[in-house]
Amino acid sequence: MDKRKIILDCDPGHDDAIAILMAARHPKLELLGVTTVRGNQPLNVTTNNALNICQWLNIDVPVCAGLDRGMVRPSPIGESIMIGERDGSGLDGHTFDPLTKKLDSRHAVDFIIETVLDSDTPVTLVPTGPLSNLGMAIRKEPRILEKIDEIVLMGGVYQHGNFTPAAEFNIYADAEAAYVVFTCGRPVVMMGLDITRKALCLPSVVNRIAKIENRASQLFVNLMSFFNRSQKNTFGWEGAPLHDPTCVAYLIDPTCIETKEMYTEIDITGGPSHGRTNCDFFNLMTDKPRNSKVCINLDVAKFWDIVEDCIKLYN
Ligand code: BDR
Ligand code: CA
Repeated sequence: MDKRKIILDCDPGHDDAIAILMAARHPKLELLGVTTVRGNQPLNVTTNNALNICQWLNIDVPVCAGLDRGMVRPSPIGESIMIGERDGSGLDGHTFDPLTKKLDSRHAVDFIIETVLDSDTPVTLVPTGPLSNLGMAIRKEPRILEKIDEIVLMGGVYQHGNFTPAAEFNIYADAEAAYVVFTCGRPVVMMGLDITRKALCLPSVVNRIAKIENRASQLFVNLMSFFNRSQKNTFGWEGAPLHDPTCVAYLIDPTCIETKEMYTEIDITGGPSHGRTNCDFFNLMTDKPRNSKVCINLDVAKFWDIVEDCIKLYN
């Protein structure tokens, strides 16, 4: 069986960390590289976090840093408010060894372009942060489009937002880049909050993973114990939503997620709905292309089985 080639473009972040963990070892996937973007934290922090995760799990792929801001403009409400101090490092809860893994010298945008163009088979792009690197890569070298088989992204929502009433964080953080991606003509699969909010890492999940006892389970348990505490303090939830790993779970076993094809338009007006993914759920706009497969249901039990299987692949 041919492995599916993927590039993971992320902003770690607790849930991005688990997405990297899952993408790196699964026999159905070939992780070509990890690229970073500003999002959960400033770029230098998300990049160091990606390097730390790869080093801890012995994931030997290039890590390339990308955009430290949105493609066109800073966030309408201000960068410092957007990034905020959600937690100290973006990966609190786990203590990493001193960092020796080196950053690849290529810019993430160039890495994406070169890797996609050089590949003899199509590449799947998996963005789990703001879409700045991907939007830039498409604008800089549109020839990559014909070599991209699918863009499987975490972002957006057709119900209510998590950053503004209208918008989800990743799309809000660089709405213009999201506009480029959703209008690029390649298939987009959108893992929005509508389903990722169901991937709650309850204490029962943490206990189950703790039984595996390897470096990956240690990382998972440490990160998620912290993440759960902070989400409980902030939102009162018993388990933190693991948004980004839903993308990788879908690539491993698409039957764990139900999708619906629809037209999605990104709001880039700068108004109160800036960054909203306007998903035409009932296909009312019949003249518009169905440019996205929007995820509408998650088989939660299957999802955690996939996560567990991925963690068991480590020593
Ligand atoms: C998204 O925002 C980030 O904080 C998470 O890592 C996830 O990618 C959820 O809105
Ligand atoms: Ca993320």
